[in-house]
Amino acid sequence: MANMLKTDRSELITKSQQFMGQYYKLKEAGFISRRGNFFPSVHYPPITMYPRATQTDLFYSYQLPHDRLFDVYAHLPFCQQRCLFCHYPVRLGDRDSEKDIYLNALEKEMDLYLQVLGLRQVKTRSILVGGGTPTFLSPVQLKKFLGFFVKRLDMSCCEQFSYDVDPTTLIGSDGMERLRILRDHGVNRLTIGVQSFNDQTLANMNRHHTVAESLKSIEESRKLGFKLNIEFIFGYPGQTLASWLDDIEMAMTLDVDEIQLYRLKVRAYGDYQGPIRELIEKRSVNALDDDETLPMKKTAIDLLTSHGFKENIRRVFSRTVTDYSRYAWNQCCLLYDQIGFGLTAFSSLRDRFVLNTQSFDEYYAMIADGKLPVNRGLVRSREEQMRWGMILPLKNSFVLKSRFQEDTGGSIEFFRDTIEKLKQYGLLVEDDVKVQTTQLGAFFADEVVQQFHKVEYLPFPCDDYAPGALNPYRGQQS
Ligand SMILES: C[S@@+](CC[C@H](N)C(=O)[O-])C[C@H]1O[C@@H](n2cnc3c(N)ncnc32)[C@H](O)[C@@H]1O
Ligand code: SF4
Repeated sequence: MANMLKTDRSELITKSQQFMGQYYKLKEAGFISRRGNFFPSVHYPPITMYPRATQTDLFYSYQLPHDRLFDVYAHLPFCQQRCLFCHYPVRLGDRDSEKDIYLNALEKEMDLYLQVLGLRQVKTRSILVGGGTPTFLSPVQLKKFLGFFVKRLDMSCCEQFSYDVDPTTLIGSDGMERLRILRDHGVNRLTIGVQSFNDQTLANMNRHHTVAESLKSIEESRKLGFKLNIEFIFGYPGQTLASWLDDIEMAMTLDVDEIQLYRLKVRAYGDYQGPIRELIEKRSVNALDDDETLPMKKTAIDLLTSHGFKENIRRVFSRTVTDYSRYAWNQCCLLYDQIGFGLTAFSSLRDRFVLNTQSFDEYYAMIADGKLPVNRGLVRSREEQMRWGMILPLKNSFVLKSRFQEDTGGSIEFFRDTIEKLKQYGLLVEDDVKVQTTQLGAFFADEVVQQFHKVEYLPFPCDDYAPGALNPYRGQQS
């Protein structure tokens, strides 16, 4: 593909090779898995490690926030076909009648949740609808969903209404109709999963669209005035540093607001394992190792920052500081209460985490029975609350000391030894007001925050890490 922007890559590549020296040092110190495993920290405890729990366990003594505001998520688990990297439980193919059954259940789940909270509507700060492919509905079904969804929300204070979508459902006459329906219901930001601007990589991923279709979906969405975020995966088998830099160069020429980078996650660490792990283990495809994947990340970040992009929230780059997901910011940086509806959805409610079932059958059966489809979760102890209050904001932005005290009831001094150790290795900086990652720490933000995990919530066993000063098991009992 002809790129409109060509950069001098030799300097970028040299810098990334020099950077790998810091990676080897950190690996030797036990900071990074020496088997090349990677686990992104999204929540604490990690979403897949919650014990079984009931609605009564999880909502007991819960009190609404003072301002009664929530960030709201809804999940629609249907897709055209299975992308090989994807670990989400989704139903594939058209399945129009099952989508109707699911929408009816989702509507009922919202009513059950409102009843539990004693509310008529949920007052929203921000909204995100994701999946699956939440636009993989007929225009009639999409209208039906948005109709009952927004009826149960008070959107008078809602700052952003986002949708996570694939490119295919936004193009053609149905696509245009869907875009209009979204806009007419208040949606103002789209995250489009373009994944790659290389048709061969898309085919290797078993994606159901071409580069031309991705570009068309961006153009059509922009015409209707949506803010746009586009997402990419790096470290995918078959990708090269050159093809990856082509992707980033191409992305920077487009009329989009945010560029989001995901490192390929091979192991699901969850109930459903996507096909990619088996393909790699059977050697049907060759996995890229850290020596190939980390230079992709480093060069992409350097390229984006040299063109005026800033990482406003971890792994999302934008030219304007106000372009970012309010849903992610409110939940992970400000630690505000958030409610999720739908299969696999979760609610993060200040001192507790409530997780919905991953099984379609169980989801339908529990709702038909008049119960929330909740089957796992945790009300955190004071110590776990402090870990959560440290991990989420540190991963995504910074920890404000005054807020930490308010949100967790504890002092940041609880982590003094870990903070000092990470400062010595050039991964954290601290002043009177906040603790945050350095540039190096931000690059390894997942590993930095795993230093604050309790050992039972670490993603890998102790001997995955070298026995150095930064081995996350050091000084903790297993
Ligand atoms: C919830 S997915 C759904 C988006 C939408 N269904 C699509 O595929 O276009 C959100 C994003 O997570 C990223 N993602 C999903 N699985 C991943 C994996 N195994 N490793 C890295 N990134 C992944 C992809 O970039 C994807 O667009
Ligand atoms: S990546 Fe997106 S489109 Fe592909 S299977 Fe997963 S949720 Fe569906």
